[in-house]
Amino acid sequence: MARPIRKAVFPVGGLGIRFLPATKAMPKEMLTVVDKPLIHYAVEEARAAGIEEFIFVTGRGKSAIEDHFDLSHELQQTLAAKGKTEEIEQLRSWLPGPGRVAYTRQQEPLGLGHAVWCARNLVGDEPFAVVLADDLVLSETPCLKQLADVHGETGGNVVAVTEVPRESTNRYGILDIANDDGRLVEVAGLVEKPDPAAAPSTLSIIGRYILLPQVFDRLARLKRGAGGEIQLTDALAEMIGAAPFHGLRFEGERFDCGSKVDYLRANIAFALDRDDLRSEVAAFLRSFCSDLALHDR
Ligand code: UTP
Repeated sequence: MARPIRKAVFPVGGLGIRFLPATKAMPKEMLTVVDKPLIHYAVEEARAAGIEEFIFVTGRGKSAIEDHFDLSHELQQTLAAKGKTEEIEQLRSWLPGPGRVAYTRQQEPLGLGHAVWCARNLVGDEPFAVVLADDLVLSETPCLKQLADVHGETGGNVVAVTEVPRESTNRYGILDIANDDGRLVEVAGLVEKPDPAAAPSTLSIIGRYILLPQVFDRLARLKRGAGGEIQLTDALAEMIGAAPFHGLRFEGERFDCGSKVDYLRANIAFALDRDDLRSEVAAFLRSFCSDLALHDR
């Protein structure tokens, strides 16, 4: 029987260089899609997957994330004075309960693997989730819930995977496939950022993982890999064979919000998905596209 997934790690220690200057004084994970920060979606998704404890691996300049998941007495008082009770309720409704959030600092951004390793004492000896807030997934069933369900069946490591164009394999962790039933992929190997010509497939890991705690021992021994960083993918590759390891072609659409174009796409897709915004945004898009078509003629 697989143990339930109760804890999620949110690595938010990266520098967000591709989004400068927006990320100069603000964490990348606080960029908003429509009206919620990326990290807010990540925590909502985790909670919908049954997560009870939220572990953030932060870095310098990330205090806005801590404030976001805390009560703001000043704001509450100001809203109360204006009679905005609904807004007060709204703000309280999604806050994790007392003692449910933990923060640890990654003192240097040495890579995703290092960030996850920084959470080892907070996770302890149980399977856990890792959620990268800059990967946003629009789906019927929350992506992390889909992974947790697979872990419930296999008891092993599970990563969310999606096809990428071959020319982009050098931006992602790529799977070597042992078996593939079209939905679930048995993993034979993993390579971080392979050259397109050498990539064993075009199936890439996205920022959703269910991992066994043994990953911490592997991370502790790792040297720097691709890009001079301690890579999570390298530690995962070492675990293949020791326990079941699957990639799940999840149901849903993924937006890589670390890239500007995908970030803009995410704003449009999430707005179109909302009852309060869909018709106005669709009308605007239609008119925008017809103007564009005229202009291109
Ligand atoms: P990225 O590879 O997107 O890096 O990290 P980044 O620093 O955020 O952005 P760029 O490439 O400089 O524009 C993927 C995730 O891993 C976290 C990031 O915060 C992001 O959520 N991360 C990355 C860490 O927590 N620590 C690190 O050392 C590196």
